Amino acid sequence: MSNTTTPATLAFEQDQLVLIDQTKLPGQLVTLRCSTVPQVHDAIRRLVVRGAPAIGIAAAYGVCLAATPGGSPEHNYRSVLEAVSELATSRPTAVNLFWALDRMKRVAEKHGATDNLRLALLAEAQQIHQEDRQMCQRIGEHGAELLAHCHRVVTHCNAGGLATSVWGTALAPIYHLHASGHPIEVFADETRPLLQGARLTAWELTQAGVPVTVMTDSMAGSLMQTGTVDAVIVGADRIAANGDVANKIGTYPLAVLARHHQIPFYVAAPSSTFDFSLQLGSRIPIEQRAREEVAGAEGLETVPAGVQVINPAFDVTPAELVDAIITEKGVVTTPNREKLEQLLCPS
Ligand code: MRU
Repeated sequence: MSNTTTPATLAFEQDQLVLIDQTKLPGQLVTLRCSTVPQVHDAIRRLVVRGAPAIGIAAAYGVCLAATPGGSPEHNYRSVLEAVSELATSRPTAVNLFWALDRMKRVAEKHGATDNLRLALLAEAQQIHQEDRQMCQRIGEHGAELLAHCHRVVTHCNAGGLATSVWGTALAPIYHLHASGHPIEVFADETRPLLQGARLTAWELTQAGVPVTVMTDSMAGSLMQTGTVDAVIVGADRIAANGDVANKIGTYPLAVLARHHQIPFYVAAPSSTFDFSLQLGSRIPIEQRAREEVAGAEGLETVPAGVQVINPAFDVTPAELVDAIITEKGVVTTPNREKLEQLLCPS
């Protein structure tokens, strides 16, 4: 994702949110321009932009679109508060969405129905975007230390530059190590049903020249059994106060396998992914997605009509299976409530 000819995952240009349309990758690298709040809502819902930090940044810019240059201060203020509520319904699991919207709402309430509102909102969205770049950079540095002895790592879904502003969370340490000349290769779970691993992780790692091999989700166990894997590293959509981690469906079985094979299982996430209001991972709302995502492939029905399908988009990995959580503020090994609070909410 450091290739200068590749468009940014998201950008705000000429009063439009410009997104790489991730539903089209890897076949087509095209951007989608959003100039209204419903367009941003739709882009998040359809996974044009996806990955917890990127969803938060997109929503922050989405709020900016509600305040128009020609609108009266009163109209803009009302529209902005409506946009915050509307965008909060786009996806339920990634807490970064609500974290970013809360920040935007606080700025809106501070400035109220004034002429300053538009610029203040844009400054806050740009600040969220900039902070994300810094968080990814720090996560890359901290994670690289942890992975310093690893050469072959498994990842799940996409927690790279396409899921953030740049570099990603789980992939940031890999980019860091690769750039420093450390030999590292990635085994990417294809990540059923929407194939973020095969389509997106493999695409962005290849762009950056990092060796990557795609496997089906069920292959990780045999790879571990044959000693082919040194570590697993994944991102997160929401981490509860006790360290339980919600991430893309299929993460939990990977953590179980890693523990069985005594392979370290690492989670990389910025502080904006922690939800200290939830004591346990079992309280994290899990998005249920459409039947068609599981029951069809390339226009073909893969499940007989009338047969039930379940499609939870995320699962929860208990903290006890996580060897370390890598944040921009540092690494927490064998995470628990006390250690996480100490690092992330110092009094
Ligand atoms: O449904 P998605 O593609 O938004 O799911 C994304 C993930 O599960 C990522 O692993 C997570 O958001 C971390 S992104 C740095």
